[in-house]
Amino acid sequence: MRMCVIIAGLVFGLNVGQEVASAASAEHGKTAFIQNGCWQCHGTMGQGSIMTSGGKRLAPDPLPWETFSAFVRSSNRAMPPFSEKILSDNDLADIYAYLLSIPKPPDTASIPLLKE
Ligand code: HEC
Repeated sequence: MRMCVIIAGLVFGLNVGQEVASAASAEHGKTAFIQNGCWQCHGTMGQGSIMTSGGKRLAPDPLPWETFSAFVRSSNRAMPPFSEKILSDNDLADIYAYLLSIPKPPDTASIPLLKE
């Protein structure tokens, strides 16, 4: 699979290759988000809940990367910290790519039923 991505990148030019590569890391990030249990408190799409994430939402529009990664590594309140030993830098970056890939909901003005 990775080979195909590399070949596609070579055939279609670097841009396509980069898009495929970032899609792949968001996909892996989704797996890491599930495997590390983030979903249990934050919901499978980072939507959060008042009960388990203090009402905080991770996506769409995640925090800037520095704030996000620093929080995950050093949280000391309701959320347990995740050190490099249990969550690698790569997996954390992929989780961030997954959260970035979650689309915003449509603008209410674009939904005819809500205008009536
Ligand atoms: C046991 C429940 C629990 C788990 C598991 C958990 N979180 Fe959290 N998370 C929380 C709570 C509760 C907060 C709000 C904490 C606070 O304000 O101190 C939070 C806050 C955050 C924030 C800050 C959000 C903001 O807007 O300030 C980030 C980023 C975050 N979590 C990412 C993650 C990631 C990534 C994982 C998995 C590696 C994860 N969390 C796993 C409960 C959890």
